[in-house]
Amino acid sequence: MIDSNLFNIKFKNPLVLASGILGVSAEYFKTLEKSGVGGITTKSISLKPRKGHKNPIMFCDDHGFMNAVGLSNAGIDKSIEMIKKAKQFVKTPIIASIFGGTVDEFGELSKLVTEAKPDIIEANISCPNVKKEFKLFGASAEAAAAVTKIVKDNTNIPVVIKLTPNVTDIKPIAKAVEEAGADGITAINTLSGMRIDVNTKMPILTNKFGGVSGKGIFPVAVKNVYEIYKTVKIPIIGTGGITTGKDAIEMLMAGASLLGVGTAAYYGGIKVFTKVNLEIEDWMKNNGYSNIKDLMGAAHE
Ligand SMILES: Cc1cc2nc3c(=O)[nH]c(=O)nc-3n(C[C@H](O)[C@H](O)[C@H](O)COP(=O)(O)O)c2cc1C
Repeated sequence: MIDSNLFNIKFKNPLVLASGILGVSAEYFKTLEKSGVGGITTKSISLKPRKGHKNPIMFCDDHGFMNAVGLSNAGIDKSIEMIKKAKQFVKTPIIASIFGGTVDEFGELSKLVTEAKPDIIEANISCPNVKKEFKLFGASAEAAAAVTKIVKDNTNIPVVIKLTPNVTDIKPIAKAVEEAGADGITAINTLSGMRIDVNTKMPILTNKFGGVSGKGIFPVAVKNVYEIYKTVKIPIIGTGGITTGKDAIEMLMAGASLLGVGTAAYYGGIKVFTKVNLEIEDWMKNNGYSNIKDLMGAAHE
C-alpha cells in the first residue's frame, strides 16, 4: 500500500509535485494527474502578478540545477480562478503555495486563497532568490512563527510552512512554526548558490545568485528532514533531490510523510512519478514491507 493520508486527505501515493515546477494551467493539472502524481503544489502565489527575473534564470549540469526565476506568477486573483478550475478537472489534492512581502500580506493571501478551496495551503517563507524585495522569514524563528500564526488565523484549511535550509540550525525554526500552530512542514526549499561563466567572467544567472536543487542537494534534504522529525510532532513533506524510489524510501525513513519531487520532473519529464512509484513498490516488495507507514521515521527507531 503506497497510498498516504495527511490531515485526513487521501493521497493515492506519497509523491507530490513540488512548488514552482510545471503546471500553471488548470488543464495541465489533468495531464499531471495522469502521470501518477499523488498531489500537486502550485507555483508560489503573490498578491500582485510578478514577471520574475530576466533571462538567464536557470542553469543545469550533471550534478543539479540552479534557478532564479524570481517567483513569477499570475497573482492571487488569476490563481484563485485557476485553482477553482483545476479542482473541477482533477481529484488529486491541490496544495496552494503562497508568499508575501510582509506578515500581513501572508494573512491576506491566506484568506483570499481559501476561497479557491485548495486541500492544503503551503506558506513559502524560504525563497532564496528575492531577498531584495522580500524578507527571508524562514531565517528567523520569530518571523516564521508570526507568518504561521497569521496564515492559520485566516483559514480553516490545513497549513504547512515551507522552510529554508539556508540557516545554521533549522530545529528552532521548525519548533517555532509548530508552536505557532502549523499543521505540517515542507522541507526543504533550494540552497543558495552561484556559478560564474569563465569566458565572460560574469555570473551565469542575471540575478547572480540562484537556488540549487536536484540530486546534489539530496543529502542536505535528508539531514534537515531527519532533524525536523526529531524536533516536532507535525508531519513533514520531505523535498529536495528525490529522483529514484530508493531516494523516496530514504526520505520516508528520515521522517517524511509525503515526498516533494521537483527537479527530477525537469530531467525525467512527468513520467518520473510513475517510475518512482514503481520503484518504491518494488523496494517494499523485495524488503517485506506492505504498508508505507511502516517506513516513515524508520531511521529513528
Ligand atoms: C525552477 C524552480 C522554481 C521553483 N519555484 C518555487 C516556488 O515558486 N515556490 C517554492 O516554494 N519553491 C520553489 N522551488 C523549490 C522547489 O519547490 C523545491 O523545494 C526544491 O527545488 C527542492 O526540490 P527538488 O530538488 O526536488 O527540485 C522551485 C524550484 C525550481 C527548480
